[in-house]
Amino acid sequence: MGAIGVLTAGGDCPGLNAVIRGVVSRAIELDAEVVGIRDGWEGLMHDRTMPLDRESVRGILARGGTILGTSRMDPYIHGDGLASCNPTLRRNGIDRLIVVGGDGTLRSAMRLADEGLNIIGVPKTIDNDIPGTDTTFGFATAVQVATDAIDRLTTTAEAHNRVMIVEVMGRTQGWIATYAGIAGGADFILVPEFAYDIAEVVDKLRSRHRSGHHYSIVVVAEGIEPPPGYRTAANKKDAFGFERLGGVAYQVASAIEDQTSFETRVTILGHIQRGGSPVASDRVLATRLGVKATDLAVSGATNVMVAVRGTTMVACPMEEATASIRAVPPDLYDSAATFFG
Ligand code: F6P
Repeated sequence: MGAIGVLTAGGDCPGLNAVIRGVVSRAIELDAEVVGIRDGWEGLMHDRTMPLDRESVRGILARGGTILGTSRMDPYIHGDGLASCNPTLRRNGIDRLIVVGGDGTLRSAMRLADEGLNIIGVPKTIDNDIPGTDTTFGFATAVQVATDAIDRLTTTAEAHNRVMIVEVMGRTQGWIATYAGIAGGADFILVPEFAYDIAEVVDKLRSRHRSGHHYSIVVVAEGIEPPPGYRTAANKKDAFGFERLGGVAYQVASAIEDQTSFETRVTILGHIQRGGSPVASDRVLATRLGVKATDLAVSGATNVMVAVRGTTMVACPMEEATASIRAVPPDLYDSAATFFG
């Protein structure tokens, strides 16, 4: 058997180091060699590697970021697919690859598997939007960060009789907004999956403030449409071609302030949600995913993604994991809506 390559690609996510530690520790137990590939696909295309042994993963379990580095380069957008990776694979004796990434990364990994490389995917994203798995590591940490922020914003909102708009990440899905909104007791949560009517939001806030609550918390997912009449220029794109999001909270705030005269402020949490130490449940999930990914790599499995179903780690066909984006289900949003207004 050749070496197992491991790379982390796309946006970083709390728990990446726990995955790497899980991969390396299990490989040592199974007598397999692991080569770390630096900076995601970019390192694979440009032969940037590092040996991974017991020493290199010591003390990294609780550390945010990734000791391997990451990038938003892609072998099919910025290279010729497997042909661009082969020199690095050959030079390092790598014949199987563990790819830790989100939807874009996993789609490229699946194409490499179709070209003949042994691929094991590990789902990674704070957005929690990958199908085939119950949840993704990093999500619980992002929700905790956002909830802590909402708790803090609530006391200052109350002191000043203000409306606070809190914008969270999640790209086209509203998982972080919905969970953090429920956990933080938000008075409205706006997510891309369910269209909102700004007039209804305004009405609910007005009646809330009339009935004795003089402040409100509105959580918005970064991927929502701005209220009609409050559009701005399109955002720039990242290296994957995805639109860079962030800032819609200002348009929601303008609409609310214009229509209610309630003093309104905006907080955009941004990359704070991705930085720092993973919460305990993310450390456990990431560790288990890393261990299972190595088991699958050693067994010769390919074109599968490690997934958690209930309390069990399973191998899910990559095709299932990349076929769609997992949206917030209506019943979850409906529970959150009980507390609106
Ligand atoms: O997909 C994870 C994510 O954090 C999204 O929630 C967010 O829109 C995006 O990445 C931000 O990416 P970047 O780090 O390139 O700004």
